[in-house]
Amino acid sequence: MKKLFLTLCGGLHLFGAAAQKAATITVDVAKPEARVAKSLHGIFFEEISHGGEGGLYAELIQNRGFEESRIPQGVQLKNGWLVPDPSPHWFLNGKPSDWRMPWEIKSDWPSWKLRSTGQSAIDISLTQEKPLNAATPRSLKVAVGKVDPAGKHELVNEGFWGINVVEGDAYLLNFYARTGADYKGGVTVSLQGKEGKILAANTFKSISSGEWKKYSCKLTATAGDPKAEFVISFNNTGTAYIDFVSLFPEKTFKGRKNGMREDLAVLLADMKPAFLRWPGGCFVEGITIESAPNWKQSIGPVEKREGTYSPWGYWASNGFGYHEYLQFCEDIHADAMYVFNVGIACEMRSGTFEGEAKVPGLIADVLDAIEYAIGPANSKWGRVRAANGHPKPFPLKYLEIGNEQHGVEYAKRYNQFYDAIKKKYPQLQLIASMGIGDINRNTLDSMHKVDIADEHAYKAAWWSFTHNDHFDRYKRGAYEVYVGEYATNNGVGAGNMLASLSDAAYIFSMERNGDLVTMSSYAPLFENVNTRHWPVNLINFDCARAFGRISYYLVKMMNDYRADQNYATNTVLTAEDNPAPLFNGGIGLATWDTQTDYKDIQVIKDGKVVYQSDLAGKKGEWASVIGKWNVTDSVISMKDEGAQRFITLKDQSFDTYTLKLKARRNSGYNAFIIGFGVKDKETMYRAHIGSWVNQNCVFESVTNGFNVSDVSTQKRLPAPIETGRWYDITLEVGKDKVDCYLDGKLLMSYTEPNKFLAIAGRDEQSGDILVKMINAKSSAMEVAIELKGAGAAGKEAQQLVLSAPGPNEENSLEEPKKYIPVTVQINNINKIAAPPYSVSVVRIKDPAWKK
Ligand code: AHR
Repeated sequence: MKKLFLTLCGGLHLFGAAAQKAATITVDVAKPEARVAKSLHGIFFEEISHGGEGGLYAELIQNRGFEESRIPQGVQLKNGWLVPDPSPHWFLNGKPSDWRMPWEIKSDWPSWKLRSTGQSAIDISLTQEKPLNAATPRSLKVAVGKVDPAGKHELVNEGFWGINVVEGDAYLLNFYARTGADYKGGVTVSLQGKEGKILAANTFKSISSGEWKKYSCKLTATAGDPKAEFVISFNNTGTAYIDFVSLFPEKTFKGRKNGMREDLAVLLADMKPAFLRWPGGCFVEGITIESAPNWKQSIGPVEKREGTYSPWGYWASNGFGYHEYLQFCEDIHADAMYVFNVGIACEMRSGTFEGEAKVPGLIADVLDAIEYAIGPANSKWGRVRAANGHPKPFPLKYLEIGNEQHGVEYAKRYNQFYDAIKKKYPQLQLIASMGIGDINRNTLDSMHKVDIADEHAYKAAWWSFTHNDHFDRYKRGAYEVYVGEYATNNGVGAGNMLASLSDAAYIFSMERNGDLVTMSSYAPLFENVNTRHWPVNLINFDCARAFGRISYYLVKMMNDYRADQNYATNTVLTAEDNPAPLFNGGIGLATWDTQTDYKDIQVIKDGKVVYQSDLAGKKGEWASVIGKWNVTDSVISMKDEGAQRFITLKDQSFDTYTLKLKARRNSGYNAFIIGFGVKDKETMYRAHIGSWVNQNCVFESVTNGFNVSDVSTQKRLPAPIETGRWYDITLEVGKDKVDCYLDGKLLMSYTEPNKFLAIAGRDEQSGDILVKMINAKSSAMEVAIELKGAGAAGKEAQQLVLSAPGPNEENSLEEPKKYIPVTVQINNINKIAAPPYSVSVVRIKDPAWKK
């Protein structure tokens, strides 16, 4: 916090020194534009990266039912791979797909182990004999051959990469046991810290019983350890059977039984999300149709819930089931959005599906789910809800018909579900899925009626600046848009300040188009840092700590300060006398799985050749960075396979110039990649001619050496680059624009996008005028806000600033709040500091405003 404040002061301080680039934002209060829906900022939970199991769901024992080495339904284990049964794929005209996925689970009892020392003899195995119940068919057989009073005979669970035991806190343990006639003793259960330190323990004198019995106790920790283990120690020889071992912190969010981890739940509640989308994502779809989730298996006693295999490669216990989800929505005052499967498994995976005949049954199942959530307490499923402790209806408001499905056939299913649900529950809002990208015209046109269409947007750094008009161009009035999943997740590390600036530009474009985009949710929400399944995730945690990435604070800030009514806003940037060239830096040559020759490289500045390759005389001028380049007297060649092979011209830097060269593709997948604005070996821009398997061309930016993101839109080449032919390439590198010519013809252009953006509107609750601005530049800006038609407004203002000293900065487990918003009092709205790499909300009091 302190550091941030200093950063900001640094920015302010700069204003006193040299003249700053400036912006004037004029807000015309007399010109209302789009309204912004209260539902705009929601959240989306999916069981990915252990977001629930070992995350939000507070259970501390991993693999509590000993079911996690079970092979999911609809697949077979073959040589370490899960291979779907050969059923037709939804899209492959009756043919099965050849998709398969690695089976990562190597132990029969993941997360459990034996610890035996001294003379003790103890052995474990899985058994399906006499199961506890049908949902947990396996149990652990523990055979204790010898007990050594001085040794250990322990069954240990490591939790989810540790168990966070806090001194003074209580933990509620439940487990089931039965024994063979030969086991006459009891067990000691304990939480153990480093080197076996006992943090809490309890002894059950006898567990001797031929039938399953439940054992419960409260373990209160006399000392803490953030990475403790749970241990069952056997004190008798003989055979014991153990199943469904569950340990919860007594303190859960709102004290709920079978509840949520408090710190993570509080982070979500603090976002004040309008709604919560659940349970996926791909999770809804399943790897096969047989293994897709079934809500009816996620309610009732936890030990009777069959798990669901998450497409992200692990079992979910369904402890965070449909009831807990609805309860959690109520607890955080969010509307519920339930996403259900329409009988189609993930098309990127097996794509197996239920035939038409099964659709009525699937519809009936969804109607049951709705009745469970909002039906009267005397209805069939409302009664079950009441029996589960919640007679009143839950806040279910939205249903999404499938996840990321698209196409005409999906549209037919959508129509069936839509009609049936609307007939019985006209008050519910139904959402159509649109595949993995933008609105899908083909899908849309085949649907009878679309209220809300769900577009997904995972984008590269800067995309939202270069495409800030994305939603401006949508047709109005036909449907509303829900951006169900969005994030900048390419070229931004694991979620840094650059990601947040790009996310902010995206959010600005949604808010500005509030008449069209009425709902959004960042994705994914959670990542257990021990098991990341997706490149960038909003909230990261381990078993003891958690932090919101900078984008977490951004989304929260945008929601805390959401305008209800947008105003016409015009931003004028003061032209700089002599702006610094943006692409200054070195030049380089690259390939990607392609064998290419380059030669006759020239850099021309103001009509003069300032560099001319002389490979015969000065081979050493070029330095291989990635891969082994071959520099002969006449050409620079890459002959190998491999991504991102790169060679650079050593120690030379240019600002505005013309780069000319010849290039020949000899074999491989793509064609030519020319680096410019090379800041260091890992950071540069590139013109890629022959991207997408020699079909397209595009400008790219590279960060961290391998992180490539498109900064322009991929454009079709007039024709693929021919093999064996020399081409002339020219790059005209200007101050903020680059033109790329192929054989003398303009192929593509790139202009650096405007990196200062602003929107404005009114929060009708407080009456404040909110001016939001992004300064994504590396230098501070002085900003003047001019209010038109707002009389006395402007005397009192505050600025909330989220900034970092550089684009690569991130929060972390060690410094969770390094970059969070700070509040600054504003004395003069005509002179506001927008620090480099910052997003700000300026709140301006308007004493004259009346609701
Ligand atoms: O958020 C991660 C995944 O991205 C979701 O499961 C899926 O809907 C999308 O493709």
